Amino acid sequence: MNILLIGSGGREHALAWKMAQSHHCDQLYIAPGNAGTAGFGTNLNLSVTDFEAIKATCIEKEIHMLVVGPEEPLVKGIYDFCKNDEALQHIIVVGPSKAAAQLEGSKAFSKKFMERQGIPTASYAEFTADNFEAGKAYIQQHSLPVVLKADGLAAGKGVVIATTTQEALDCFSEMILQKQFGAASEKVVIESFLKGIEVSVFVLTNGSAYHIIGHAKDYKRIGEGDTGLNTGGMGCVSPVPFMDAAFMQKTEDRIIRPTVEGLAKEGLEYHGFIFFGLMNVGGEPFVIEYNCRLGDPETEVVLPRLQTDLVALFAAMDNGTLEDANISFDPRSAATIMAVSGGYPGNYAKGKTIELPAAAEVPKDTLVFHAGTISSGEQVLTNGGRVLAVTAYGENIGDAVAKSKQTLEKISFEGMYYRNDIGFEFPC
Ligand code: AMP
Ligand code: GLY
Repeated sequence: MNILLIGSGGREHALAWKMAQSHHCDQLYIAPGNAGTAGFGTNLNLSVTDFEAIKATCIEKEIHMLVVGPEEPLVKGIYDFCKNDEALQHIIVVGPSKAAAQLEGSKAFSKKFMERQGIPTASYAEFTADNFEAGKAYIQQHSLPVVLKADGLAAGKGVVIATTTQEALDCFSEMILQKQFGAASEKVVIESFLKGIEVSVFVLTNGSAYHIIGHAKDYKRIGEGDTGLNTGGMGCVSPVPFMDAAFMQKTEDRIIRPTVEGLAKEGLEYHGFIFFGLMNVGGEPFVIEYNCRLGDPETEVVLPRLQTDLVALFAAMDNGTLEDANISFDPRSAATIMAVSGGYPGNYAKGKTIELPAAAEVPKDTLVFHAGTISSGEQVLTNGGRVLAVTAYGENIGDAVAKSKQTLEKISFEGMYYRNDIGFEFPC
């Protein structure tokens, strides 16, 4: 099968690494990819939202399967674009329809969906410029902290946890009146703060059957001890010790199954991944957010632990046999640590030369996934805020983290930074 993978991050390098292991994978193309994905297929210089260029490529390269990494093309309707086009409709698209991708594309949509389906989530209300004064009054009587969310996609920056009423009022006004995130913040969801530990669970579904393909804990803050600004994710560990059988059962019974059944009941077509961002509040799972894709850097620990052939799973998702698939996991722990550019998540420089260890110097239980990198002749240069994700397996999380750091010590580029304390709550 010829496969086109859309995206360019660490998630896509991990997907390319995993799919290239499948005997179902003939030619693998990655658009646009990075210096790492080029080791597993052919990078194509396409924009992830240029659907016409993607169509031309699908026809030219005789693509059978389109795997969509990031949310933007999904929220913009790449699934529907393919299914409504005679030349493309036979292609297996891994990703939900535009209507279903609203689970990620609109916070208000996802809150209403959870309300209709009785799925546990924080209490909330939504506001626009039309009921701005009512929003201010809602904030004034709300307990603290209070969470404000821009309704639409805001590159991971649309959520504010305000610790004072004044801060909440200021953010509310900036989002709605000053249109801080453009159209994405014309509507704002205000919700109560859930206190607990976060965990991300990943499911592959065809809209009726589903399989849990893994879970992970992401470390989102830039600074050690979970301090400083939010990032796309500075590292991940899997499995997470508190995800015991009892918590997993509650998650499946109260959240995962009702979500998949709710999608079917509401006629929301879904063939792809659901990312459940959960909060464990005193042993009870609540949904913080849905995403319609895999996480980054969660994928860099989830796929290394998944032993099942991913391309075969995608084919099963498409041909109605997903229910029969056997999912198995590597029993070892996995940890990934992100090496980022100096200044990230603020301004940072690109084009710095990366010194990488030779393949023979990387232990066999360690994987160096590229994120923001680009090839330039023989060199690999930085090309983003998050540059590399170094994943290692270990007997426990502490061991996996220690191994990842051993390889990180052999990598360098000007301004390189990584968190030394990924997995700090789980030393063994
Ligand atoms: P989201 O984009 O909805 O995932 O929000 C980004 C981050 O904000 C989450 O990963 C949480 O760390 C935090 N967050 C969002 N909603 C809440 C909430 N209701 N309570 C506590 N933290 C939250
Ligand atoms: N690491 C969080 C995300 O992918 O949304």
